[in-house]
Amino acid sequence: MTDVPTVTLNNGVEIPQLGFGVFQIKPDDARDTVLSALEVGYRHIDTAQMYRNEKQVGEAVRDSGIDRSEIFVTSKLNNGVHTAEETLEAFETSLDTLGFDYLDLFLVHWPMPETRNYVEVWRAFEDIYRSGRARAIGVSNFTEHHLRRLHTETTVVPAVNQVELHPYLAQDALRAFDSEHGIATEAWSPIGQGTVLGDPVLVRVASEHDRTPAQVVLRWHLQRGDIVFPKSVTRARIEENFALFDFELSAEDMAAVSALDKGGRIGPHPEDVN
Ligand SMILES: NC(=O)c1ccc[n+]([C@@H]2O[C@H](COP(=O)([O-])OP(=O)(O)OC[C@H]3O[C@@H](n4cnc5c(N)ncnc54)[C@H](OP(=O)(O)O)[C@@H]3O)[C@@H](O)[C@H]2O)c1
Repeated sequence: MTDVPTVTLNNGVEIPQLGFGVFQIKPDDARDTVLSALEVGYRHIDTAQMYRNEKQVGEAVRDSGIDRSEIFVTSKLNNGVHTAEETLEAFETSLDTLGFDYLDLFLVHWPMPETRNYVEVWRAFEDIYRSGRARAIGVSNFTEHHLRRLHTETTVVPAVNQVELHPYLAQDALRAFDSEHGIATEAWSPIGQGTVLGDPVLVRVASEHDRTPAQVVLRWHLQRGDIVFPKSVTRARIEENFALFDFELSAEDMAAVSALDKGGRIGPHPEDVN
């Protein structure tokens, strides 16, 4: 089986750099799709309370016959949760729904700066972390400004920051900030939900390597150090997105893909989600 590299988080926990995302996978399809991904070799699943498929993710992990300790599972706190008390309850609900006694990584899904005191929520995350039932805690969709606030007002530095990141939104400044503060950057929508794949530069680089544009984009992420978890419900694509470890992009290829950055978001700006 392919050895997926791991990234060591700021508390020593190892996370597989390539995982499988389950956003928009319908609950009825999620168990079988995740089982497929585990069969292909993925050992890192990225779900969220909001995706409504935690139950099926938990079932797939159990039904795979693979030891729970060999699969890294992330979930994320829903946006409707505002207080510390609600956060602790929501974490329990995630564990119950997944059927797990611990999570590998629990994230604040969005900061929601106007409607939620995310510092209070983060303090509850620190309690969860200290209880040992989340091996690591982190945030998602946090800008430099939100991270600075956590840095000044709380104790535990987030292990990861999961943000929209693909060739059209390379997030160089935020990645540099994360890295200076010991925070690993995870790239959501790593292939831009498919929107970047027709780009002539990606098509050219792909044909030079006899690969697909999706493989070139995912390889670009891996070589620059991003943690990725492409989503697909299509078995052939699940396999394609995992076949990344027998080719390498040159410095020139890397620069050509990086030059596609145009600050182009497909999702909302984090300040606007409230
Ligand atoms: N924290 C957040 O706020 C946040 C937001 C969005 C996403 N995420 C996480 O990031 C994960 C990935 O992002 P995403 O699901 O938005 O988008 P993505 O992985 O960039 O793209 C998924 C889309 O691309 C298609 N696709 C997958 N592999 C392909 C390939 N090799 N060739 C052509 N098309 C391909 C899929 O189609 P089919 O499924 O039809 O094959 C699907 O429509 C999510 O599943 C979730 O875990 C987090």
